Amino acid sequence: MTDGNDFTKPEPRNPSREPRVPHQPVLLREALEFLSVRPDGVYVDATLGAGGHAAAILDVLERGRGRLLGIDRDPTALAQASARLSGWHEKVMTMQGNFAEIDALHAASGLPPADGMLADLGLSSMQLGDASRGFSFSLPGPLDMRMDPQSETTAEAIVNHTPERELADLIYQLGEERHSRRIAREIVKARPIRSTTELAQVVTRAIPSRAGLYNLHPATRTFMALRLAVNRELENLESFLSKALSVLAPGGRLVTISFHSLEDRPIKQAFQSWKREGRASILTKHVVRPNEDEVRTNPRARSAKLRAAEKRGLGAGD
Ligand SMILES: C[S@@+](CC[C@H](N)C(=O)[O-])C[C@H]1O[C@@H](n2cnc3c(N)ncnc32)[C@H](O)[C@@H]1O
Repeated sequence: MTDGNDFTKPEPRNPSREPRVPHQPVLLREALEFLSVRPDGVYVDATLGAGGHAAAILDVLERGRGRLLGIDRDPTALAQASARLSGWHEKVMTMQGNFAEIDALHAASGLPPADGMLADLGLSSMQLGDASRGFSFSLPGPLDMRMDPQSETTAEAIVNHTPERELADLIYQLGEERHSRRIAREIVKARPIRSTTELAQVVTRAIPSRAGLYNLHPATRTFMALRLAVNRELENLESFLSKALSVLAPGGRLVTISFHSLEDRPIKQAFQSWKREGRASILTKHVVRPNEDEVRTNPRARSAKLRAAEKRGLGAGD
């Protein structure tokens, strides 16, 4: 599945691999190791999704002592995860919200500062595999792409109402698509465009046929750019990073899993500046990648990058 989370690591086009299976948590063992989950600790999963990482954390938490706050922007994902985690109801609290406001969400939970927080970015397999959400170019659906259905902007609004030049810039910057100008021109000619498959056809038409030789659907980067724009994903990530340390207790850990370089870059930079300022230490000298076995059983993992940092402890002069 290449149309959802990333485009950096192409996989062969094969619609039969579109996810109809439940979401499998990526880098699960590694995330748990870096979070160093304690049975009496307080944890925040800022991107609850299907609740896969959260379930593994809850497994370690002791009843009556450990607590987990699970957050997601998407009310459908939140409802599914809440149902899945209901067996642990005395240890878990779920909240709909945008992790850009992580400090306010954490404060509203009434929980003490967290011993660990996870942000597993991007889309879940459920979101990508649900044609009605419009995230996938290979499933016919409306051009929506909103993680939170209350947000104002849809992909359809961007595709049909953005001036050509601005659209080309958006596709270039957020999709790193070198054919962005041709694509924007074709889109403007074909307006109005209402469905995912219509847009995928227009983009395919715009791209020179030689470009199809590489192992990536021609619409991958354009869909990626639109999804990032609709959900303001990079802006939200910046805001999350500016607030994340304030949610953690001294010695608390932040673990991030990202799926493309536009997400990984600000994380790496934030970690480096925290280190320079003496606010946190970096636990992952080199980025952590999934092993071959994981990529074989879960192709979505193939471009995942895990990074972890630890907030400076009280003993270090706080
Ligand atoms: C990759 S999935 C998480 C999967 C989860 N770790 C699991 O194991 O099931 C990412 C989730 O983050 C949510 N999300 C993305 N951006 C968000 C944001 N700014 N605030 C809150 N949730 C967000 C998406 O709706 C999606 O459900």
